[in-house]
Amino acid sequence: MSRGAHTDAARAIGVDIGGSGIKGALVDLTAGDFAGERVRIETPRPSTPDAVAEVVADVVSAVGGDDDHGLAVGVTFPAVVQHGVARTAANVDDTWIGTDVAEVLGRATGHPVHVLNDADAAGVAEARFGAAADTDGVVLVTTLGTGIGSALLVDGHLVPNTELGHLEIDGHDAETRAADSAREREDLSWEQWAKRLQRFYSVLEDLLWPDLIVVGGGVSKKHEKFLPLLDLRTPIVPAELRNRAGIIGAAVVAAELRTPA
Ligand code: BGC
Repeated sequence: MSRGAHTDAARAIGVDIGGSGIKGALVDLTAGDFAGERVRIETPRPSTPDAVAEVVADVVSAVGGDDDHGLAVGVTFPAVVQHGVARTAANVDDTWIGTDVAEVLGRATGHPVHVLNDADAAGVAEARFGAAADTDGVVLVTTLGTGIGSALLVDGHLVPNTELGHLEIDGHDAETRAADSAREREDLSWEQWAKRLQRFYSVLEDLLWPDLIVVGGGVSKKHEKFLPLLDLRTPIVPAELRNRAGIIGAAVVAAELRTPA
């Protein structure tokens, strides 16, 4: 694969920081797909900023970052990220709160780094290249995993950090009942879990009136087990880019926000 600097105008690197793995790839921004191998390294434990930054730097080098330090790097983070700074830590080490993640990772990688919420990155990718590519208006992308992530897009523009997985529903933080981790932890049948999803998505559609709901996260590849059990007025469809969405979305946003040197 050729990765010469002159061919990198339509490329950027995407990195997805998850609870178990840190994954990255060089992304072809025109095709909306990987332009090389995906690299995955275990998330260090404890997942403190310094330890994670070191692994992110290794991932960036492994996918071609050393060939061109001008390549933009987009990184997803599973928490609220405001202007590069982590503001919450529902499923990551608490030491991240208040950390300027973009600055820490920029220093570690030697690249211009943009950091955004993981579900927001997935939402941007699905809106550009995936399940919501043909939908104007209000699109709600949710990721069902350890937690529940959300991305709200209006005519393709992201409203960042919506955190709808933490809506309080029936006295519970929604993700503690309806995330895929709750299904696994409580050994719920698809029918039992679908009842919880029904409640979650009914509240969302009554508050936001989206034109389309997209369901991502690892479990979305088994969508036929639970999406047909839901009765909603809003069309609800599985994500198309699945576990590539975060990496692709982060790369797209980083490349677009980058100010020319
Ligand atoms: C976090 C979100 C994140 C989601 C999915 C939630 O617990 O609060 O920021 O997007 O999990 O990782």
